[in-house]
Amino acid sequence: MPDPLIPARLAYAADGTPWSEGFDDIYHSAEGGPAQARHVFLAGNGLPERWRDRARFVILETGFGFGLNFLATWQAWREDPARCAQLHFVSIEKHPFALPDLRSLHARHPEFALLAAELHARWPLLVPGVQRIELESGRVLLTLLFGDIAEVRNSLRLCADALYLDGFSPAKNPQMWSLDTIKVLAKLAAPGASAATWSAAGALREVLAESGFEVEKRAGYGAKREMIVARYAPRRRVTREVRPPPSDRRALVIGAGMAGAAVCERLCARGWQVTLVERNARPAEEGSGNPVGVFHAVVTPDDSVLARLTRAGSQYAEAHWSALGERLRRANCGVLQLARDAREESAQKSAIEALRYPPEYAQYVERAQASAHAGVEVASGGLWFPRAGWVAPASLVSAQLAVCGARLTTHFGREVASLLREGALWRARDNRGDEIAHAPVVVLANAGDASRLVPSLEGRLRRVRGQISYLTRQSLRAAPRTVVLRGGIVLPPVDDRVVIGATYDYDDDDPQPHASSHAANLARLERILPGAVSGIDADSLDGRVGFRCVTRDRLPVCGALESAGDGLYGALAYGSRGLVWASLLGELIASLIENEPLPLDARLANALSPTRFAR
Ligand SMILES: Cc1cc2nc3c(=O)[nH]c(=O)nc-3n(C[C@H](O)[C@H](O)[C@H](O)COP(=O)(O)OP(=O)(O)OC[C@H]3O[C@@H](n4cnc5c(N)ncnc54)[C@H](O)[C@@H]3O)c2cc1C
Ligand SMILES: C[S@@+](CC[C@H](N)C(=O)[O-])C[C@H]1O[C@@H](n2cnc3c(N)ncnc32)[C@H](O)[C@@H]1O
Repeated sequence: MPDPLIPARLAYAADGTPWSEGFDDIYHSAEGGPAQARHVFLAGNGLPERWRDRARFVILETGFGFGLNFLATWQAWREDPARCAQLHFVSIEKHPFALPDLRSLHARHPEFALLAAELHARWPLLVPGVQRIELESGRVLLTLLFGDIAEVRNSLRLCADALYLDGFSPAKNPQMWSLDTIKVLAKLAAPGASAATWSAAGALREVLAESGFEVEKRAGYGAKREMIVARYAPRRRVTREVRPPPSDRRALVIGAGMAGAAVCERLCARGWQVTLVERNARPAEEGSGNPVGVFHAVVTPDDSVLARLTRAGSQYAEAHWSALGERLRRANCGVLQLARDAREESAQKSAIEALRYPPEYAQYVERAQASAHAGVEVASGGLWFPRAGWVAPASLVSAQLAVCGARLTTHFGREVASLLREGALWRARDNRGDEIAHAPVVVLANAGDASRLVPSLEGRLRRVRGQISYLTRQSLRAAPRTVVLRGGIVLPPVDDRVVIGATYDYDDDDPQPHASSHAANLARLERILPGAVSGIDADSLDGRVGFRCVTRDRLPVCGALESAGDGLYGALAYGSRGLVWASLLGELIASLIENEPLPLDARLANALSPTRFAR
């Protein structure tokens, strides 16, 4: 079982300085947190001067605490007319503060009131993993890694320009400053990167020097006579890919389902000009064409790759979708994932007890409570995801395309038959050989059809038929008011229609609904809501067929299809969970293309990488 995330406990030292009981240390100098942040971390790293006129500047911090360093940095960035275009602030924290405590701590610093309020509005649920908070319309990106540095240091993939080393005193918290950790940080430092800390400990100077830093002592802040500043200048030459963001910011996206729309949106938000090519007359006509779909995370006792990826995806989507406004049709009605049998029920229960998630994220509920949530008698107890729910996929796709504005050009009703690289450009042509569009970067978001265009994907993607069935609200004695899953699914009525599903039919290419698939969906419904199907005739039902694109390991394919320098990317094989991860993977693709810090654990990104097939 992985370690649960334990929030920090708010406490104060006798002089009123925030203090950690667990580490027996104060969060910042008793002479003042903001002034310490400016003296030690900003000035110590040569900021704001060093970020001036840069396209991007990346800061990596060890120990987010309650974010005073971040707020002081963000404020300095806002007030600097020559600031970098984009500021990434990546911070690691083992014991984050819950929102009410964060509010009390920030209330002591009215100079940050406006910025703190924005941070509070976006403060995530305290669950392990990487979470990205977008501020200043995406020009300031705060990426938080919740977990122990000894563990999460391996999940970083970035190139840092400045390091804020701030993890309680080395004497009280040696693990935070270990040679192993500093060596990992050094590997993430750009040549010439700076580091600063309020500590002047001799052992730390040695560890930094051993990791390739030139170390210097400077006047410290407040009661600290000295502090350390350092510059990454390894004696041995390091071969490190420092790839600047592409200068030609034009991309071609093939496929206007939820995968493609999310990529368009994330690239346009970064100022790219995007051309979208779709073979249907409208977006979201194929896999993404169901009237409603469900999004929820997965919880497993071992916190599997799937559990971590759905956690990251659902957290990102929740934060990101709120910016899409009224166009997005959805309901956070809650999702019940009923246990299929007693064994699964006890596994769910023990996973929830051990992982200690916030109740807003996931809980275990007995059958009676599950039925109370659903408003109908359900078959068993199970997992309850109070913030999950349903989305109308077409509304998500059109909302994402709408916010792209004038940066997006669309070609509907055009099918890409070939994709060829000529010089620095990819050219997409139709089956008559006429060019549809060209760009230096292309993202394939055309599900199973991608393997026709890229030979390396051949045999990797599989199409699986899925049929949903429509019931009228009146045909059920009582319809649930939440989504309920148990080897199948039933949604609450949307426009008086209750959607149930879904079949998983290998080797069946029939695009028309079958009565036998309706019957299979009714059998699923019976296992969820016992007695619900009586009087419903499968032959009389209407429904819809779609095709999922899946891989053998059931994980999406997301990243550079060949080498990053080729400009060929894939956002494919979203299987049965496109809603959960399409938005996050759109951000992942944009971050990979731009060579920015990743919005998710690099180990998860590796698990999705198209190169895994070769491995
Ligand atoms: C029955 C069923 C139920 C589902 N339920 C859920 C659910 O509840 N929750 C959930 O999260 N997911 C669900 N899914 C899965 C979800 O629908 C998919 O994960 C998602 O739609 C995949 O999106 P996509 O953009 O990758 O693919 P698509 O939506 O299929 O988009 C690919 C697009 O590429 C276009 N295209 C293909 N080839 C070309 C070409 N050569 N040139 C131009 N255009 C091209 C296609 O026309 C299409 O519009 C379900 C799927 C099915 C089938
Ligand atoms: C001095 S405080 C950081 C103050 C913070 N930079 C600020 O601006 O408010 C140190 C932080 O390091 C965190 N920390 C300590 N040990 C850690 C570990 N092993 N992994 C990750 N974070 C850790 C603590 O929980 C604490 O929040």
